[in-house]
Amino acid sequence: MTDQLLLGQTLRFSGDPFVGDPEAVTHISARGGVLVRDGRIAAVGEADDLRRDNPQATVTEHGNHLITAGFVDAHMHYPQTAMIASWGKRLIDWLNTYTFPEEMRFADRAYADDIAGRTLDLALANGTTTLTSFCTIHPQSVEAFFEAANTRGMAVVGGKTCMDRNAPDGLQDDAQSAYSDSKSLLETWHGKDRISYAITPRFSPTSTPEQLDALGALWAEFPDVLMQTHLSEQLDEIEWVRGLFPDTRDYLDTYEKFGLLGERGLYGHAIHLEPREIDRLAEVNAAVVHCPTSNTFIGSGLFNMSGLKSRGIRTGLATDTGGGSSFSMLRTMAAAYEISQLRGTALHPAQLMWLATEGSASALHMSGEIGSLNVGAMADIAVLDLASTPAITQRSCRADSLWEALFPTIMMGDDRSISTTYVAGRPV
Ligand code: GUN
Ligand code: ZN
Repeated sequence: MTDQLLLGQTLRFSGDPFVGDPEAVTHISARGGVLVRDGRIAAVGEADDLRRDNPQATVTEHGNHLITAGFVDAHMHYPQTAMIASWGKRLIDWLNTYTFPEEMRFADRAYADDIAGRTLDLALANGTTTLTSFCTIHPQSVEAFFEAANTRGMAVVGGKTCMDRNAPDGLQDDAQSAYSDSKSLLETWHGKDRISYAITPRFSPTSTPEQLDALGALWAEFPDVLMQTHLSEQLDEIEWVRGLFPDTRDYLDTYEKFGLLGERGLYGHAIHLEPREIDRLAEVNAAVVHCPTSNTFIGSGLFNMSGLKSRGIRTGLATDTGGGSSFSMLRTMAAAYEISQLRGTALHPAQLMWLATEGSASALHMSGEIGSLNVGAMADIAVLDLASTPAITQRSCRADSLWEALFPTIMMGDDRSISTTYVAGRPV
């Protein structure tokens, strides 16, 4: 493949902007470029230097649009795409009323193919190049997701959602089949092309201790795969967990007790945490995933971003669609900003952009591979138009720094702000 040179404004990070001055680890070029070779980033720098040093490269001019790493959504449910924005319920009622009936439909492989393709195309239109998705209990829902990702060349994480209680008939497996189906999917798909498997107990209320134990055993057999689940999202849910697992110290302990707490664990939501849970997450270097539009939409609570980041807890950012109300990681950053404001901290735009790219990649243990514009990373790239609507333009045109120009797009942008998405260097 011939080298490609993408020119425009560029934004990349050389560290975590939650540690020290956010701007100190941010590298902005008003006239920068990214050299793409064989699907990876081969060089980043000033446009003029890159042009001079790479006369062979095909040039794509993005003008004053902002070239950034593609967004990495660290927690979502592709089977819930068609029921996004369902009205009026809180978590448990929302699951029973809207979610479980919709997930039943994924017994039909053709339906799963349709929604998987639709979800990935919506993601790409929003500049999101990696999704981390729960599938349904049906193994074919996982195959549909992975095949749709492979067709598009995307790096994705997914797994069969396991549930053997507190879900309708037709949407339950059992401890043995959860183990063997997950194992067989993992062995077939993990590491194939750009696919990563994640062992996926939905959350402790929908798994018996036997199922959690079986999945803990599977994780011990395959410690290099991720494990994704939900943790401490709503107060009613936490009460329910307390009743279902009377011998555990807290919600996190329902996972730890069965071998489901570890460095490659992804714990979605993590809002109402006890001090012990925070200590344990930090000790084992587990990752939490903030899902802000979901937390406001389902009425869950206010995630403590600065508190958890100050404890060094790896944190990703995610849409959590269809509990989340937007496919856009820009809208998701805006919601994260608003939630943090309600907790007394104004997140810097660098911190928001980092969370949506490198932060999520780090939660997935894929730092340096995705979510980055640094040399060696896959060329999964989003190009943002910082003047995509009249409302945004009239604000960004009076900005006197990139941050001031970018922040209106973070707060008010959506898929209209994405001018191009590249997957492995290919515009899609
Ligand atoms: N907890 C268990 N399952 C789900 C889900 O599908 N969405 C959300 N937001 N929380 C959950
Ligand atoms: Zn979720």
